[in-house]
Amino acid sequence: KKIVVLISGRGSNFEAILRVSREEAWAETCDARIAAVISNRPEAAGLEIARNAGIDAVALDHKAYPSREAFEEALAEVVDRYEPAAIVLAGFMRVLTEGFVSRYEGRILNIHPALLPLFPGLHTHERALEAGCRVHGSTVHFVSAVLDGGAIIGQAVVPVLPSDDADRLAARGLVLEHRLYPKCVRALVEGRVRLENGRTVMDDET
Ligand code: GRF
Repeated sequence: KKIVVLISGRGSNFEAILRVSREEAWAETCDARIAAVISNRPEAAGLEIARNAGIDAVALDHKAYPSREAFEEALAEVVDRYEPAAIVLAGFMRVLTEGFVSRYEGRILNIHPALLPLFPGLHTHERALEAGCRVHGSTVHFVSAVLDGGAIIGQAVVPVLPSDDADRLAARGLVLEHRLYPKCVRALVEGRVRLENGRTVMDDET
């Protein structure tokens, strides 16, 4: 089973999934591997990580396309080459249209740096601090046509400390993302997590 990862930047979540997939020998234990990393920003550091790991690294600059739809068409063409069991958005900073998302329904995941349904969108850490939240965190969810609105799969919670600023809070949350996301991706490729009628279905053990 192939996993395709979509990124726009640093790629630390991609790197975490790659590391865990190797530590846990996913190729043998769940017949899965990361087949490709695609970035809409050619300069994304994550592409270099993929290249160094011998994984297909594809740059697809959205600015080279006349419209969102044209970019998505090109993106879908590359994604479909791999016939992926999972499409993993990891810091992918383009909004995807209903057309793209519905094509991969139940196979496409995102990680969002907030405890959804609180704080969809950008600047989540600033907003959590501004709101005076005492906990914050990250959410892995199925991607739907509603931005950061798909069915929730897993969440990781961090305390908000009195001394926190957005950067410190983000850094602490990121450490947990790197544990959460590989678990969720594995659960999806193993079929332990599924999307049914717009809701997440899983066993208690998952
Ligand atoms: C993470 O904070 C993730 O929650 C958000 O974008 C960031 C990606 O970081 N969606 P990285 O590129 O995986 O390092």
